[in-house]
Amino acid sequence: MKVLILQGSPRANGSTAWMAEEYKKAAEAAGHQVTLVNVSRKKIAGCLACEYCHTKGNGACVQKDDMQELYPLMAQAEVLVLASPIYYFTMNAQIQSPIQRMYCVNAPAKVKKMALLVSSHSPGVYDGAIAEYKDICNYWKAEDCGIVTAKLDEQKTEETKAKIAQIVKNL
Ligand SMILES: Cc1cc2nc3c(=O)[nH]c(=O)nc-3n(C[C@H](O)[C@H](O)[C@H](O)COP(=O)(O)O)c2cc1C
Repeated sequence: MKVLILQGSPRANGSTAWMAEEYKKAAEAAGHQVTLVNVSRKKIAGCLACEYCHTKGNGACVQKDDMQELYPLMAQAEVLVLASPIYYFTMNAQIQSPIQRMYCVNAPAKVKKMALLVSSHSPGVYDGAIAEYKDICNYWKAEDCGIVTAKLDEQKTEETKAKIAQIVKNL
């Protein structure tokens, strides 16, 4: 399957980047075609709610920023993996912008499966991210193929790597 991983942490050697890379390696080993994008390195603004896309734009966004690179990847993806650090009890802004910029097309055309990878300092801080992720799965009619969380003492561990490998089997 065509897998697109959106990785939102600006820390290139951080825990979320590691989780995204482990997911990529496991999915590629299983024969999937994986594209990993560090969206924190992209200039992707928030949705302007200008409705250009739903009027004159015929589904195209008026903002010509780095989201233009992501739209074709989102259109082709069959699996979408969101990888985010927890910032203030939810997914970070870098991940929220590309999700919300899908407003112009409402949903990624081919995404049938999703997964969530989240990293945090503390335990028990995942409810907001998981609730949003599950609502998006339902809204985009995608199956939830698994969630892996990693608080401080679970980051970059063999146990977390095994959990990631386990959810890749759901593809
Ligand atoms: C702006 C900001 C907000 C954060 N908010 C939380 C939080 O609400 N709960 C928590 O446990 N950790 C919080 N953290 C810590 C990160 O989630 C944690 O360090 C995470 O492992 C970072 O992932 P990374 O290594 O992939 O960047 C926050 C960090 C930053 C920079």
